[in-house]
Amino acid sequence: MTTSIDSLKRQAAEAAVGLIQPGMVVGLGAGSTALKAIECIGERLADGRLTGIVGVPCSGQVATDAQRLGVPLTSLDEHPAIDLTIDGADEVDPQLRVIKGGGGALLWEKIVAQASRQEVIIVDEGKLSDRLGTTWALPVEVIPFGWRTQLEFLAGLGATVTVRPGRENAPFRTDSGNLILDCNFGPMADPEALAAALNSRAGIVEHGLFIGLVSAVVVAGKQGVWWLE
Ligand code: A5P
Repeated sequence: MTTSIDSLKRQAAEAAVGLIQPGMVVGLGAGSTALKAIECIGERLADGRLTGIVGVPCSGQVATDAQRLGVPLTSLDEHPAIDLTIDGADEVDPQLRVIKGGGGALLWEKIVAQASRQEVIIVDEGKLSDRLGTTWALPVEVIPFGWRTQLEFLAGLGATVTVRPGRENAPFRTDSGNLILDCNFGPMADPEALAAALNSRAGIVEHGLFIGLVSAVVVAGKQGVWWLE
């Protein structure tokens, strides 16, 4: 059995896509693992194993990919309630708390997750972590106005902050035109308290801590595929 990362991502995606029923509204997550799920959905629509589903994309790039792969799209305006979202993550802890936003789509991803009856996260086993923050810096999305004022605030919370770079030496911009500050907190003692502090700060639009939003995590590893629920 091949156990390349790519193959593990595909195995996790296949397992999650098995939850999709005909006629569902499906949230389509961003990133390389979620893309495997979109590929899988496209294949099943093409050969008739799936019918009548529509997808809500979590980023402009996802919309482009889904169209290319033959997955019909809708929007939260047309379908404000999503049956099932399949998305990736950067780091996952045993309480199903996750860090997302490696691709910069965390704001749309969180809005979609909040609108979803089920949020299923698909990862390879390398994403598992006893403590969030051990392997990944927390992406924090800030509006352009006064964004430098957030640097000291975030440092005061214990972060080493990096402005995410974009093209041609300019900062990266999200689909909503905001910046991402990647905040290395190290292993987090209290992710809920950190989320609350970030939520209360004007100018911080959103952050990549998804707490209480995840219904299940599908993990693919050398030993096979398993579910955390
Ligand atoms: C996108 O903003 C992210 O939340 C991704 O879902 C996350 O970074 C996982 O991406 P990969 O599946 O590419 O590792």
